[in-house]
Amino acid sequence: MTAAPDARPAPGDAETAIRTRRSTIRLTGPAPSEAELLDLLAAAATAPDHGHLRPWRVIAICGDARTRLGEAAAEAAPTADLAERTTAKHLRAPLMLALVFQPRDHPTIPRWEQLAATCAMATTLLLLLDARGWAGVWFGGPYTEAPQVRKHLGIGDDEQLLGYLYVGTSVPGEAVRLRAAIDVRSKLSWLGGTAA
Ligand SMILES: Cc1cc2nc3c(=O)[nH]c(=O)nc-3n(C[C@H](O)[C@H](O)[C@H](O)COP(=O)(O)O)c2cc1C
Repeated sequence: MTAAPDARPAPGDAETAIRTRRSTIRLTGPAPSEAELLDLLAAAATAPDHGHLRPWRVIAICGDARTRLGEAAAEAAPTADLAERTTAKHLRAPLMLALVFQPRDHPTIPRWEQLAATCAMATTLLLLLDARGWAGVWFGGPYTEAPQVRKHLGIGDDEQLLGYLYVGTSVPGEAVRLRAAIDVRSKLSWLGGTAA
C-alpha cells in the first residue's frame, strides 16, 4: 500500500526533532499513557528492519514495579552503598521501558542486522517521545546482565536486555542544553570523487 503524498510530514519536522533532541536525566511525571505508548511504538516499529522481523519486545515498568526491579538489581551490587544507589536509580523516572532484544535464527538475516534494527527502533522511539514533548534517556544499566534482573523481568535465555529508556517529563525550569556542533569531516570518506 502506498501512502498519499500529503500524508508525509514536512521534512523539517523530522530534522528539527533530530537536531534538538537531548537526553534528559532529571525526570518527573507525567509519563505517556498506554494508548500513547502503543501509538508511538507502532510508529517506532517502522524503523529500518530487514525482513520486518521486529526482533524485540518492550516491558513498561512503572509505580512500585520500579522499586521491585531496583531491589532485584541491587542484589547484584557488590556493596551496600552501591545497592542503595542502584535501587534509587530505578526511581528516577515515572516510566521505564526495558528494551529486550529477541534475535531469532534466520537463514539470511544475521543477528547483527537484527540488533541494528532493534537499536534503530529504540532511537526512533526516543525521537518520537521527544517530538511529542516527553523527555527521556537511554541507560544501559545497572546490572542488565545480572541473573537477578533477568529472572525478575523474565528475560529468556535467547534474549538480551539492552537497557532501559527512562521516560517522563522534564523537571520544570531545567535549562535546555544546546548541543555543540559536531565536526564529522573525519567520519566521511568518498570513493570515486564526491557527489555533485
Ligand atoms: C545503548 C545505550 C546505553 C547507554 N547507557 C548509558 C549509561 O548507562 N550511562 C550514561 O551516562 N549514558 C548512557 N548512554 C548515553 C545517553 O543515553 C546519552 O545519549 C548521552 O548522555 C548523550 O546525551 P544526548 O543524547 O543528549 O546527546 C547510553 C546510550 C546508549 C545508546
